[in-house]
Amino acid sequence: MQADRGQWSSRLGFIFAAAGSAIGLGNIWRFPYIVGENGGGAFVLLYLFFVVVIGLPYMLAELSLGRFSSKNPVGAIEAVKPKSTWKLAGLLGVITGIGILSFYGVIAGWTFGYIFKMAAGKVYGFEAFVADPLWVIILFAFFILITTTIVYGGVEGGIEKWSKILMPILLVLLVGLIFYANSLDGAERGLAFYLEPDFSKITGKTVLAALGQAFFSLSLGMGLMITYGSYLSKKENILTSAIYIAIFDTAIAIMAGLIIFPALFAMGEDPAAGPSLVFVVFPKIFMQMPYGLLVGSFFFILLSVAALTSTISLLEVPVAYLVDEKKASRKKIVWAVAGFTFIVGIPSALSQGSVDFFTNFGLIPEFLTGPDFLSQMSFIFGDFSLAFGALVLSIFMGWVWGAGNAADELQQGSPGFVRIRAVWMFMIRYFIPFVVFLILLNLFGIFD
Ligand code: PFF
Repeated sequence: MQADRGQWSSRLGFIFAAAGSAIGLGNIWRFPYIVGENGGGAFVLLYLFFVVVIGLPYMLAELSLGRFSSKNPVGAIEAVKPKSTWKLAGLLGVITGIGILSFYGVIAGWTFGYIFKMAAGKVYGFEAFVADPLWVIILFAFFILITTTIVYGGVEGGIEKWSKILMPILLVLLVGLIFYANSLDGAERGLAFYLEPDFSKITGKTVLAALGQAFFSLSLGMGLMITYGSYLSKKENILTSAIYIAIFDTAIAIMAGLIIFPALFAMGEDPAAGPSLVFVVFPKIFMQMPYGLLVGSFFFILLSVAALTSTISLLEVPVAYLVDEKKASRKKIVWAVAGFTFIVGIPSALSQGSVDFFTNFGLIPEFLTGPDFLSQMSFIFGDFSLAFGALVLSIFMGWVWGAGNAADELQQGSPGFVRIRAVWMFMIRYFIPFVVFLILLNLFGIFD
């Protein structure tokens, strides 16, 4: 272990940072619109089911490999199986981190911009806003810059300290908004849509959408949990930490729904509005509320905070890889990776109407995703690459490293793990690879 790699200074520090990575635009922006598109309560139940039977066991595997090796995803694979092509799976994770950050940062930038739009009362015109090249690039640059400054501080000085400050603020804001939204006339119909399952709405595609959302939301499939696990001490109880992270992440998503659906139904809006839900429908809702501009500004502050703890983690994966493998100084690497990611993200920033070439990029066929560069990046890195990464990594951990070795590592510091050891080994070897394989088929529209 190199001396300057760093370790979490406390158990809570790790849990906050990992939960901060998991909780992001995926919970507050993506989860509600996918629930809305997939018919409500039954989808929510399925999602919860997958978090428990797939997300949580797979998270344990990534954390186990990370702590075992004290390395980034590539180094971790090298530590188990030196000089093999398996390390490409780790490299894919590193590239995926940059790929996701490049478009996620753009959306995070919009979120940040909406704080000011709300505060100024200029809440309409989402399309014009995202088509303004200057603003979106400035906001994107700003968000990358903040992320960089925090990651620059290193594990305990930066990420951990900020997560500890930011996460509780997020929770308080959410609780307040839940009370507010549920006090509105007509909120009960939203709650019913959200919490009362109608199983006739479940199809093959819905099942797989729930599974994909569980992966994205828990930050799984690109070695993030390998990286964060590498800063853990051997005394740490990985099992209970992972359970806390999954509970936090899921609770925030569920809470976001408890705000969004009651408010939506109270305002007579359509729950299936899609990805524009937060940016188009929400401002309309806030405009009808008393103190709406204030509530709206708070909402977008909350979303920016959530996005920030995720962009920090997305940057940390490539940074950890380069710090470990290239032995250059952390500070230089952080700026270099952030600068590169910013350049990669510019086409995404310009793809919402400002530059026609990027708006109608169309490399990936239309039946898979939208033609704009941002949607195409989101498909390649957010959907395909995470699912493919999880498939390859679970096979690597279950069969190459060996489920038994992974389980031995998990058992250190987690005495209670012994009770679920056999079940867990079955999950990582057979169940998870099989189900993730199905997600990949779904991305290619096999079940449509
Ligand atoms: N989990 C984050 C969210 O829900 O917004 C997104 C994400 C972060 C995915 C980090 C993957 C990752 F490694």
